[in-house]
Amino acid sequence: MSRAISLHSVSKVYGRTRAVDRFSLDIMPGEFVVLLGPSGCGKSTVLRMIAGLEDISDGELLLDGERSNHVPPRERGMAMVFQNFALYPSMTNRDNIGFPLRLENPRTDNSARVEATARMLGIESVLDRYPSQLSGGERQRVAMGRAISRRPSAFLMDEPLSNLDAKLRNHLRAEIAQLTAELGVTTVYVTHDQAEAMSLGDRVAVMRGGVLQQVSPPREVYALPENVFVAAFIGTPRINLLEAVVYAPLDGRMSIDLGRQRLPLPEPLSPEHQLLRVQQGRQVIVGLRSEAVRIAQPSRARPGEVALSGLVEHMEYQGHEALVHLNTGSRPAVVTDLESARPRPAGRRRRSAGPGMLERIRERAAGHVSGPVVVMDDPVAAEPAAYSPDRPAITASDLVVRTSPDMRLRTGAQVPLLVDLAHLYVFDHQGRRICPAPRDLPGLDV
Ligand SMILES: Nc1ncnc2c1ncn2[C@@H]1O[C@H](COP(=O)(O)OP(=O)(O)OP(=O)(O)O)[C@@H](O)[C@H]1O
Ligand SMILES: [Mg+2]
Repeated sequence: MSRAISLHSVSKVYGRTRAVDRFSLDIMPGEFVVLLGPSGCGKSTVLRMIAGLEDISDGELLLDGERSNHVPPRERGMAMVFQNFALYPSMTNRDNIGFPLRLENPRTDNSARVEATARMLGIESVLDRYPSQLSGGERQRVAMGRAISRRPSAFLMDEPLSNLDAKLRNHLRAEIAQLTAELGVTTVYVTHDQAEAMSLGDRVAVMRGGVLQQVSPPREVYALPENVFVAAFIGTPRINLLEAVVYAPLDGRMSIDLGRQRLPLPEPLSPEHQLLRVQQGRQVIVGLRSEAVRIAQPSRARPGEVALSGLVEHMEYQGHEALVHLNTGSRPAVVTDLESARPRPAGRRRRSAGPGMLERIRERAAGHVSGPVVVMDDPVAAEPAAYSPDRPAITASDLVVRTSPDMRLRTGAQVPLLVDLAHLYVFDHQGRRICPAPRDLPGLDV
């Protein structure tokens, strides 16, 4: 029988570290939920609390609706599969798979069950070998077999594929999806690989610094990220995030000032864009996925597209497509913690005009190129950044655009761009999505 697993405001505190902070999630029987986030964000800790391998410092764990904080791990009927799966080297694979069954019931003959499990996993032919005589992928399947053979009420998998090469990982990923769907067993799967999360999960729960950021079906975490962290964590190439200021003159056309260029918002304003009016003069973060921008002349603009231009920094050939790295003279916004746990920058960093500005912009741009960035912390700009063509140029790319692999572009060339405003994201200074409007905003259908 498949289990419902609920965590209500669950926290885990180690000394002075809050590894998991008020984590709440209701997992339905048979559902496949992926916990996704950078290293150190608390994924394994959540899984271990569900398994009963870790005490819960605060909050409630419910299994099928019953408070189960103190139920011993054995009585939870769950099976765990780890990254470093430990098979017993002195036992054949057959005995390894049958081991949990023998523990449960030493007198019963389990051979039929072991063989059925092996068939399901395509490892019948290696049952009488020892683990050392298997490939990594086969060993992982035996480990999976050991977890399945008990017919658990839930699978808890902690990066079970991360030791395998990319091809095998993709292959086993598909098998895990199929297998868990066939068995209909509730599965909680931990990974820091967003592509794996997107392809496996019924829902993806994104974590950062012990805190749940969003839990949604894969399409929704991609299309409607609730904050700038989720937007940046999901999707390859990473979403383009640019610092900007909303410019909303009372008598003129509203636009988003990107520093050296502006994105004019089409009149009449859509309800979404109307909402931006209240942000007038404020620092925001604009998010544009690489598919929201194309290289084309303004004369070829479709409805809803507006023109920008960019300087080609370099091209990345990827076989089926090419990524063009451009400089539009904007400031890349920076999001911390994207790659791994890093100390937050101490104190607030104030931005002010004057000497040193260029250095700071360069510093930020360089930070963007190497990955993690600084969250903008100055909610209201002293004044809207003036549109000035002679502002210092930033010497790194700030925008990545997808093109056909056949497109040939010279480094240093100025190219026309069209931005599809239907795919424009705007986040406020705290990183919360304001466009498209969050769902809890009354009167708006998103
Ligand atoms: N036994 C422990 N004592 C103290 N701190 C711990 C302990 N276990 C984990 N932590 C801390 O709790 C935080 C979350 O750890 P956890 O293992 O859950 O992260 P994770 O998201 O699984 O990371 P990874 O992707 O690297 O496996 C980390 O900061 C870690 O250092
Ligand atoms: Mg972990």
